[in-house]
Amino acid sequence: MPDLQRRLNFLHRLALICCVLVLAIVVISAFIRLADGGPGCTPWPQCYGQQRTGAAESQTQASPGIALARPAHRVLASLALLVVIALVVSCFARRPFLWREGRLALALLVLALALAVLGIYSGGARIPAIGVGNLVGGLVMFALCVRLCSRRRPTLSGDTAAAGSLGVWAGVAGLVLLTQVVLGGLVSTSHAGASCAGWLDCSAALGAATQPWQALNPWVEVRFDPQALPTHRSAAPLLWLHHVLAALLAVVVLWVAVLAWRAGRVRLAAAMVLLLVMQMVLGLTMVGGMLGSSLGLGLALAHNLLAALFLALLFRLPRGSAQPRG
Ligand code: HEM
Repeated sequence: MPDLQRRLNFLHRLALICCVLVLAIVVISAFIRLADGGPGCTPWPQCYGQQRTGAAESQTQASPGIALARPAHRVLASLALLVVIALVVSCFARRPFLWREGRLALALLVLALALAVLGIYSGGARIPAIGVGNLVGGLVMFALCVRLCSRRRPTLSGDTAAAGSLGVWAGVAGLVLLTQVVLGGLVSTSHAGASCAGWLDCSAALGAATQPWQALNPWVEVRFDPQALPTHRSAAPLLWLHHVLAALLAVVVLWVAVLAWRAGRVRLAAAMVLLLVMQMVLGLTMVGGMLGSSLGLGLALAHNLLAALFLALLFRLPRGSAQPRG
């Protein structure tokens, strides 16, 4: 086997390990963020958004699940950082440099270091920016790992117009999805999930708000008194916007699925539509649950996991899109 092929095989194996580690970290960190004072807390809704603050307090009063999740998260994150460093080294230690893979590995390293710094400020943080940064950083890392896992394919001659525009539209869909992920993170960290019930109620709350855009500011500490439902009404514009963007995303993703299908990537098109429908159903069920009995932790974790898979799928698309039907 040629040396280059051996190096690429080794790199793909490392990238696969990285994918598994990062996905586990994404789920565990969502659990740590959501389990304490999040959608699954009790007594509902008085507990919502009322997580303990301060590192010392959180260490002594954490639930058994969180007490177990924290060290697990630390160990996995350290392992992931080592794997990412190994990825960078294996791309640039010998000539020829593997530029395509190397660029992705370097982006992974920058993100991993940024998340490590953010982790220092995460314990007991009450401004949404920290949680959103954590969520988006983790999801983008996973998407980059998945892209690094996928093999190089020779560009086929006779690329169709559908395959070409698929790449462009996959990029547009990726951007809309990333914005939706940021908004979802804001909804979650601002505890806006129980602020309104459905599109009409969210629109009414938006109309009644004096400074609706203030809800989008991730640097303001979240404070509210969650006595009755709906709660934290001033954050309703976030949930309204999350609805609107979900509708926009649906249109763009369906169009990308049509293009993927036309370019012969039928399974990919089906996976996209399936993920979209499941994510919508989960989101709507979660909002319904939060305004009722708050049985939402499992749903919120699944919503997070699906967002990670969705982003990874769209990040993979452009490079593989140059494959005409037949
Ligand atoms: C279809 C595209 C959608 C995507 C990609 C998406 C993505 C996300 C993400 C990434 C989060 C943050 C999860 C976390 O904290 O770990 C989130 C939160 C949330 N999403 Fe969505 N979402 C979508 C659609 C919807 C829809 C249609 C609804 C229904 C209104 C919804 C309701 C919510 C709620 C209530 C939360 C906050 C959950 C919590 O408190 O943790 N989402 N979303």
